[in-house]
Amino acid sequence: MNLLEEEIPVSAERESCSLENYLALPDRSMDDRIADARRKLGRSTILLGHHYQRDEVIRFTDFTGDSYKLSKAAAQTDARYIVFCGVHFMAESADVLAHEGQQVLLPDLNAGCSMADMAEIGQVEECWENLLDAGIAEDEILPLTYMNSSAAIKAFCGERGGLVCTSSNARAAFEWAFARAKKILFLPDQHLGRNTGRALGFPLGDMVVYDPWQIGGGFSAERFRSAKVILWKGHCSVHQRFLPEHVDKVRSKVPGVQVIVHPECRLEVCEKADALGSTERLIRLVEQAPEGSAFAIGTEIHLVNRLAKQYAPLGKKIVTLDDTGCLCTTMYRISPQHLAWTLENLVEGRVVNRIQVCDDVKYWARVALDRMLEVRG
Ligand code: 13P
Ligand code: SF4
Repeated sequence: MNLLEEEIPVSAERESCSLENYLALPDRSMDDRIADARRKLGRSTILLGHHYQRDEVIRFTDFTGDSYKLSKAAAQTDARYIVFCGVHFMAESADVLAHEGQQVLLPDLNAGCSMADMAEIGQVEECWENLLDAGIAEDEILPLTYMNSSAAIKAFCGERGGLVCTSSNARAAFEWAFARAKKILFLPDQHLGRNTGRALGFPLGDMVVYDPWQIGGGFSAERFRSAKVILWKGHCSVHQRFLPEHVDKVRSKVPGVQVIVHPECRLEVCEKADALGSTERLIRLVEQAPEGSAFAIGTEIHLVNRLAKQYAPLGKKIVTLDDTGCLCTTMYRISPQHLAWTLENLVEGRVVNRIQVCDDVKYWARVALDRMLEVRG
């Protein structure tokens, strides 16, 4: 059966159940309601969950993954409704990759990403003009954007021959771009860009940070012309909190510990770590390690705590790299109450919090995302 045809009847005359009524209720009281709505919706609806989601939400998802895996799942499912338990840029990408007739819902529209907000399309267009004015020829440079960016920025890259990457294929995306151009503009995470550039052997002198808040990006035309990798001045406020001294401290406290971190961490942390990886890779490293292994993980606290709980019975010790714990407050916005509200509205035939990318942006964003899916990590 084509699940796209399994549409839920829309009862236009009824108003959506008020979210406020849900928010006043305790988390656990949502469990039965979510499970019940999930059953009623059947295969018309798929729930995708990023690894940073809380346990109370992730336990109901059909599919979990890092940004790359979730985009693939969104592109491949034939469910009519894709409920994205993640953040706004992920839901936007799912909408871009979705087939005709599919709808993407984000249970809380406030679930954004502070890093994605650090690059606005107008600033990126101005940056591009500045780089061309600095004497960089258009066929000399390709724009690449991290998945954590708006659909408009993805479209900007697609239209200029560039692509999107995630932390799991950033290196392959850089190689793809350098096979086609002499320079890249990497948006918006300076740390992922710098870490990837270093992994490919570029000295720090070959990289320069473009600051959208400074006139002309903050450096001379000559400096931009001489750089191979132009990084955008953006970062993840969660991962930037991990410091090199945390690595030293945990090594002195936990004998034999392996430090594994997400490449959104700063270079000084990544250089000290034993391994780097997307959330999916971090999970795999823990999974594949022998009993008795110990890990300090530099990434979002919900994933670290979940791994610690899951692997303690298997004799693996997992701690967070920074013991104050790093929480992604925007991922945390997807609560069981928001999920229950979204699903129960769907059961009643109402689509709430739909994420819809406009058609002109969609075309080129899709080109850039399709290139990403072709470039394996
Ligand atoms: P992953 O693609 O590794 O899951 O990362 C997404 C993200 O936002 C990390 O902060
Ligand atoms: Fe954005 Fe950082 Fe949260 Fe990832 S962890 S969604 S990059 S704010």
